[in-house]
This record gives sequence, C-alpha cells and structure tokens, in this order.
Amino acid sequence: MCGIVGAIAERNVSAILLEGLKRLEYRGYDSAGMAVYSPQQQLQRVRRLGKVAELEAALKAQPLPGTLGIAHTRWATHGAPSEANAHPHFSNQEIAVVHNGIIENHQSLRGTLQAEGYTFTSQTDTETIVHLLHHLQKSQPDLLEALRIAVGQLHGAYGLALISSKEPERILAARSGSPLVVGLGIGENFLASDPLALRQVTDRFIYLEEGDIAVIERQRVQIWDAHNNPVERPVVLYNEPAESSEKGSYRHFMLKEIDEQPQAVQRTLADRLAADHVLPEAFGAEASALFKQVKNIQIVACGTSYHAGMVARYWIESLTNTPCQVEVASEFRYRHVAVQPGTLFVSISQSGETADTLAALRHSKDNNYLGSLAICNVGTSSLVRESDLVLLTRAGPEIGVASTKAFTTQLVGLLLLTLALGRAQNSLDTEQESSIIAALRNLPKILNDTLALSTSIEQLAQCFAEKHHALFLGRGEQYPVALEGALKLKEISYIHAEAYPAGELKHGPLALVDSEMPVIAVAPNNDLLEKLKSNLQEVSARGGQLFVFADSSVPFIEDTQTRVIKVPSIHPTLAPILYTVVLQLLSYHVAVLKGTDVDQPRNLAKSVTVE
Ligand code: G6P
Repeated sequence: MCGIVGAIAERNVSAILLEGLKRLEYRGYDSAGMAVYSPQQQLQRVRRLGKVAELEAALKAQPLPGTLGIAHTRWATHGAPSEANAHPHFSNQEIAVVHNGIIENHQSLRGTLQAEGYTFTSQTDTETIVHLLHHLQKSQPDLLEALRIAVGQLHGAYGLALISSKEPERILAARSGSPLVVGLGIGENFLASDPLALRQVTDRFIYLEEGDIAVIERQRVQIWDAHNNPVERPVVLYNEPAESSEKGSYRHFMLKEIDEQPQAVQRTLADRLAADHVLPEAFGAEASALFKQVKNIQIVACGTSYHAGMVARYWIESLTNTPCQVEVASEFRYRHVAVQPGTLFVSISQSGETADTLAALRHSKDNNYLGSLAICNVGTSSLVRESDLVLLTRAGPEIGVASTKAFTTQLVGLLLLTLALGRAQNSLDTEQESSIIAALRNLPKILNDTLALSTSIEQLAQCFAEKHHALFLGRGEQYPVALEGALKLKEISYIHAEAYPAGELKHGPLALVDSEMPVIAVAPNNDLLEKLKSNLQEVSARGGQLFVFADSSVPFIEDTQTRVIKVPSIHPTLAPILYTVVLQLLSYHVAVLKGTDVDQPRNLAKSVTVE
C-alpha cells in the first residue's frame, strides 16, 4: 500500500528513485512524486496524478538532478488522488516527507498546527507529520531529535522517510506498522518500503523493526530501536533473481504468474516430502511436538488468502477430524473470540504485511492460543517474524495485484499442514495420506497440462466481455474456489460476480438467472458431482447459460445452453488447486478483452498495510 524509495549517493539519484517507483507501482498507483535536494541547495519536487509513467514524462520535461532524494507512489486513504495530495509533502520548502500508513490523530494535530500558523495544502494525514517536524525544530533544531519527539505524538501506522535542506547529508526514516528496508550500496545507501524497489542497485538489505528510527548517510547507516538504544540489525542477502520480478516477454505480470504455477508449486513441495508423508520440520523445529497437542485450528486471513483458508477448513476437518474455523482478519481482530483449549492460530498471507492479518496475530497473543503458524510468501515479513511456526510458500515475488501463484502455493502449504497435522495426531488414513502425497508430486505436471487450456479459455472469454454480472457455483471445497473465481473476475474485469454453494442457489440467487447471466460451475469428479449436476439443471431449466469446468473423465453433456470445458483428471483432494487455475485464466482473458488494467486494477493495491 503506497511505495517509498529514498537514495543518497554521489551520483544523481532521480533515475534510481524513478526505477524504484516503477518496481513498487503494484502497491499503489493513483499518483506519484519525487523530491530531490538540488545543486542549488533547495528541495525541489515533481508530483503527478496518475501512474509513475506520468511522473516520468514530467521529469523528462523538468529533470530533478541531485544526490539526495525521496519518492512515493500513492494509494489514497486520506484525500482523493490528486497532485496536491501526492507525496512528498513539504513544510516551508525545508523538510520533505513520504509516508505509508495512516496517522489516526491527524485531525487534532492539524488543528494544533493550524493554530500555530501552518497552512495545509493537501487533505492528507501525511502533511501533519511534516509540519509537526518543522514546528518541533523551532525548539529542537536537530532533525533526528525532532523526529524522536514527533513519533511519540503520532498515533497510527507509518513507514516514513524525510529529508531536509538544512541537513542534506542524510535521510531519516521511522517504522511503526508499515515496513521499511535499508538497501546498502558502496558509498551510497538507499531506503524503500520493499526490497524489490532496490534490486537494481543492491542485494544487501537491513529490515527495520517495529519502532526503529534510522539515519541513512552515504557512508553509514545508524539505527535506534523503539527505546532509543542504538542497534545493529542483520544484513540480509536477497537472492531472488532480479528477473523474477520482471515481466520479460509477457504482456502482463498476471499471466506470467499464472504460468509460473507449476514451478512455484514444485518449490513449495521441494524438500518437504518424505516417501509417504510430510516432514513436520517443514513448519519449524517445534512443529512436531506442537502439532500433537492441537485440538482445534483457527485460520485468519484477508482477500484471496482467506479463500485459501476456507479450502483448508474442508481438508482439515475431513482428513484429520480436527475442528477448524476460518475468519477474515478485519472481523476477527475486533471481536471477542471464545478460544477452545489447544487451538493453533494459523495466519495466511502472501505479503506478510497485511495490516488486519498482522493485527489479528498480535491480538491472538493476548488470548490462550497454543501457538501461531504463518503460511506466508515473504520470509522477511512481519507476520513471519512474529509467528512461532512458519511455512514459506516460495511462490517468488508476485507483482500482479490479483493474487494467483501465491494462492495455489498457499493451498499446497495448507494441504501439507493438513497431512502433517493428521499424522502427528494419528488421525489420518495412511492409504489416503500416500495417495495424496503421490498426487502432490504429480501436481506440477497436471498444472502444466491445465495451462494448455489457455487458448480455449481465451475463446470462451468472449462470451463474458459484454456481460455485467456472473454467478460462480461450486460445492464442498469447490465453493471457496468459486468464491475465488468470482473475486478474480471482479478485481480485474470489473464485472460484478458472486459465488454460491450450488445447493444454495434455489434459496435466492436463482431469481437472478436468465439468458444474460452466465453461470460458471466447477465440477471435479468427486462425491458431490451428482448433486452439483442437479443444481445445474435448475439453471438450465430457467434459461441460464452454463459454463462448466468439468473433469475430463466425466461425461458432461453439452447443449445450446451448456458449454463444457474439460479439465485434466486429478485426485479429488487436489481439485481446488487445479480448478482455481482455469478460473484465473478465464478472468485474465476476460479482462484483456475488456481492456482493463490487468496488473493494476482500479482502486486496489497489492499489499494493504492500512486498516
Ligand atoms: C489485497 C490484495 C489481494 C490479497 C489481500 C491479502 O487485497 O489485492 O490480492 O489477497 O490483499 O493480502 P495478503 O498479502 O495478506 O495475502
């Protein structure tokens, strides 16, 4: 949610900042801006409404040379997307700030600062920070000390970076609830909200921790913790190849990431399977002992990750007989939860920085949970650092805002969890266990075969491009797959889509069915297939148009109202993974036909680090 880049060097930094913003654009993209300390010893800035490309064009016309600078790409929270609300924000042409997060007490701060004579030029919460710093410097001229006082007065979440024309040899940064990372160069140093932004200039990073304040100079980086003690944070080598976050020959990141799923799943499985069981160490050294004590599971997540949790609930309850609840984090964090003894708290997140999911994890620590497990794609994230056990999904960087490979690898991780848990508790049927393990090993190949359906799904997509609504149906663990299919279509094609458990159709949504309402069903070969077929008859009988993704071994009859797309046969337990992929392809091709911004759909952001 919003992206921050900062740089201090001997060379001109504006190209570095711009490249960083381009790499961060997936986090927010309604406006962008840059401030640089110019050779004329002044802060200069350029801001533009719209994408980073708009800023780039403006910088061509009005270059910002300088060796110290900060930049930002925004996802609006306070104040509409506009040039005036774009960061960096200035106070008296002297201090510039970029900020991710939300300052909750901005209104009272604004009132106080206005009474002190400050004029606000934006509707943002961020502008209060920069005027507050300027005001504090009247009694505390050292910017670092002023920042220390200021953070004590800020309520809410922030990752922020600032520069001052009075102290042009450093960038100051503070983190509380919104990630920041320092990039280390030789004779130059950098700052960003995500290491991806700086991969073109370094592979050495220091992750700031909650409450840290950092001073970044050309030759050194100093960090103080939340208690103002100087600290050394470890330097982490980022070994993800830079090209994994580049589009290559693909038109969109989303298609690239859909296509990467066989390899991503392979990586998620690598070194985690013995011949016939899952290695519990995959979840951490203490996992084995902890899993034996689990009597109940509480899963918490947001968005697509929440759908992964919903699938997992079917797996965990049916295969291990362990009760399991799933809840969206924004609800869970604010309600009183009756915690059953022996409950394992499981969070699922691609980024590991989603504010609600993190808050839910922190909230769980005040309750009597057995422990916490994070299923996450980012090893350095807050969620991972704050959880007792971790399973990394190893999907690689996911740039498209609509999650694809992160979801399928989460499902694989959750199936590994189900199997490890079932074995630890002796509740798993061993034959079932080895058949699922064998099917998991074969999954990358079947995923590859499934991706070959892309061309026929592209043709099918034409039936949707003019539609305004769509209904997705599934039963059992395919119901969350239907939910995820509907979410994908909404997110990137802006078609209103809903998902229902097929058996629920007759209790309301059937009233919506007519020839204008495409109905998409996922029909693997499982125990509920015949029930699903009856539900689909209810659609046909009302003149509805059916699009059925069905197991190729099942004779599904096509007619004028029913299109059938044959999907490779798969072990029924793994079917949610495969049927998700065909629905991803459907949404992708519909969105391309509609000409939407596939990778950066309107109003959304990849990583939601605000409430
Ligand atoms: C945002 C993204 C979704 C994602 C959700 C949860 O809404 O656009 O794609 O599923 O956040 O993100 P997380 O990183 O916690 O999985």
